[in-house]
Amino acid sequence: MNRRLDPDPRRLPRHVACVMDGNGRWAQSRGLARTEGHTAGEDALIDTVEGAADIGLEWLTVYAFSTENWRRPPSEVRFLMGFNESLLERRSRELHEKNVRIRFVGRRDSRVPRRTQARIDEAIELTGNNTGLTFTVAFNYGGRAEIVDAAAALIRDGVSAADVDEAALVRRLYDPEMPDVDLVIRTSGEHRVSNFLLWHMAYSELVFTDTLWPDFRRGDLYNAICTYQARDRRFGGLNC
Ligand code: IPE
Ligand code: IPE
Ligand code: MG
Repeated sequence: MNRRLDPDPRRLPRHVACVMDGNGRWAQSRGLARTEGHTAGEDALIDTVEGAADIGLEWLTVYAFSTENWRRPPSEVRFLMGFNESLLERRSRELHEKNVRIRFVGRRDSRVPRRTQARIDEAIELTGNNTGLTFTVAFNYGGRAEIVDAAAALIRDGVSAADVDEAALVRRLYDPEMPDVDLVIRTSGEHRVSNFLLWHMAYSELVFTDTLWPDFRRGDLYNAICTYQARDRRFGGLNC
């Protein structure tokens, strides 16, 4: 049920990140192929992105394909590459018209088909000057890989050990402008992080829902934001 609460617009999280999980189980519970669950996840994604833009959220990041998802059967991996490519081709313009700025984080390795990379570049280019929601897709993304890649960049750039600090490392993450994540939402009843945005999640609030991703809608996003707004964030200090 997408029961809807209205978040307080003055206390919105700046950055919400979503682990879109449960597509396979959604399909299997209906006697469908797992890939049908990924297809059904598209409506959830678009409604969530547009719902985020409508309430004035600044940053929304979604986990679309992890560095560990290559372990899946080749047919599912192939489907996910093609599906993401076609989703971008069909939906980028509509998001552009909503003033959404599309970005990507992840490794651009040779396993990602060239056509998929081309659609990614086109979406970034088309929407790069937009000023509304920044919608980031984590694709071939791993939190550990991101930190390792940043460490390698520090060495390549000749930064001395004495000059390595958090700011120097952040400048070498996939998107140095990406703010820390305030709220992580994971669907499908799984209570884990699965290598998502490890650096940015250091002080995130975590909200888990049993809803499977294809059933998720903006109302679920708003409910999660209300849960977040009822939390007491202390960042290691004391609120008194
Ligand atoms: C999330 O759904 C989508 C991706 C990981 C690409 P899953 O495919 O993980 O669905 P479940 O968790 O097996 O139900
Ligand atoms: C996390 O979901 C990755 C994405 C949603 C893209 P998984 O389904 O791959 O995570 P695990 O295997 O259950 O931890
Ligand atoms: Mg899963």
